[in-house]
Parts: sequence; structure tokens; C-alpha cells
Amino acid sequence: MRTPIIAGNWKLFKTIAEAGAMVNALKPLVAGTSGVEIVVAPVFTALRPVADALAGSNVRLAAQDCYWEEEGAFTGEVAPRQLKDAGCSHVIIGHSERRQFFGETDETVNKKVKAALAAGLIAIVCVGETLTDREDDATFTIIEKQISGAFAGLSTDSLAGIVIAYEPVWAIGTGKTATDQQAQEVHVFIRKLVGKIFGQPAANAMRILYGGSVKPDNVKGLMAQPDIDGALVGGASLKADSFAAIVNFAC
Ligand code: PGA
Repeated sequence: MRTPIIAGNWKLFKTIAEAGAMVNALKPLVAGTSGVEIVVAPVFTALRPVADALAGSNVRLAAQDCYWEEEGAFTGEVAPRQLKDAGCSHVIIGHSERRQFFGETDETVNKKVKAALAAGLIAIVCVGETLTDREDDATFTIIEKQISGAFAGLSTDSLAGIVIAYEPVWAIGTGKTATDQQAQEVHVFIRKLVGKIFGQPAANAMRILYGGSVKPDNVKGLMAQPDIDGALVGGASLKADSFAAIVNFAC
């Protein structure tokens, strides 16, 4: 009953021309695919051209971040309504690289989530523990803090516009995926936690994606877990054939 999502996070890769070539190669590979929401997240400058290239296809568009104000003197930022204007339906918020390198906190994630929802975007909210957290047995404490911070002050209804991506930081870009069981265990924890805050029906309807070194050869095992509803894919989303393989294995 939860439609899976496979989202490709292109990070700081690809020019406009490269992004266009990628989606033109991707579209025919997934044109016959149904039962899965397919999303790509290029850099800001490629959003509009990619939106044009995706018109009429079953692939949707995400930005990799947003600001929380609608407009004003905030040099260098992009507002959710401007992302919507550029053709986005989704936005990634709180990616661990934003937290690690750009000072993102649970509080700024919360503001961004509220602003994204107000603009009618689907927020893909990232959480995940570092290797030290895991070794210190602090995984659940950290996830709880990130989730309660990100969703502070939200109504149960607003959860319909939110997707959670569980991305253990030690698995991102390292080739070290969490095992199917490790991922499932945290997904169950997240769903219970969301249930405690917002009620079980909302938690049961919430899509929770796994991210961290997802590849065509490990996606099937992950997707077979009952609480894993898709993937946020970095490296393997940069090439049309590997991303399409992940999309097509997921449904
Ligand atoms: P990766 O990145 O698939 O390259 O590990 C995932 C992500 O950062 O979203």
C-alpha cells in the first residue's frame, strides 16, 4: 500500500548538458515501469532544463536543499516556491553532507520541512547515525533526536507530504551498505517513533527509504524488507543504466 520511491541524488555532479543526456538516456529505460515513484535530484542550475527534458515522463524532479524563507535578502539561497517554479515536486532536506559540511541542524531541517510543505513540495528528510554513534550504541538515540527535531510542531496531516530517508553516514559513498537486517531494524524503530508522535495510521502510511551505497545488486534484498519503501541513491544514480536497474529491481 506504500508506493516505493527510488530517488537519485546527483550531489555536485553534472553540467546542464550532462544532466540532460542522463535523463534522455533514463526515460526509455523506465518508461514501462509502474508502481514506483522515480525521482532525480540534479544541482540547482540544471533543475529547469531537466524539468523540461522530463516533461510527460514518469520521472519526477527534486532539489537537493532549500531555504525556509519565501523571499528576501538571503543571498545565495533558493526558496521552496522557486523550486516549485523550476519544476520540482520533491526536495531533499537534511542530507548528512549538509549536516556535516554546511552547518545543517535539526532546527534548520525543521524550518525547511515546514517551508517545503507550505510550498506544496514533498520533503525527503534524511536522518542517520555516524560510525561513532553506531559504535557507541547511540544509533537509536541519534535517530530519535533527528526525527523529533525535524518534525517538531508538525500536524499529523502534514506527514502525507513527508518521506524519510534513513542513511547511515558510514554507508554513504563507502561501498559499505547496511545489511538488510540492520536497515530493517532502524526502519522499524523510525516507524514506531513516528507512530508514537503522530499515531500509527500516519506512521504506517509513511514511506521510509534506505540510502547508503545502494546498487543494482543489493537493492532487491533491501526492498524485500517489510519496512523499506525505496532508496535514496547517490553514486549509482549517476548513470542511466545502473539507476534504471535499481528502479526496475525495486518494483
Ligand atoms: P551513495 O549516496 O549511494 O553514493 O552512498 C547516498 C546518498 O548520499 O544519498
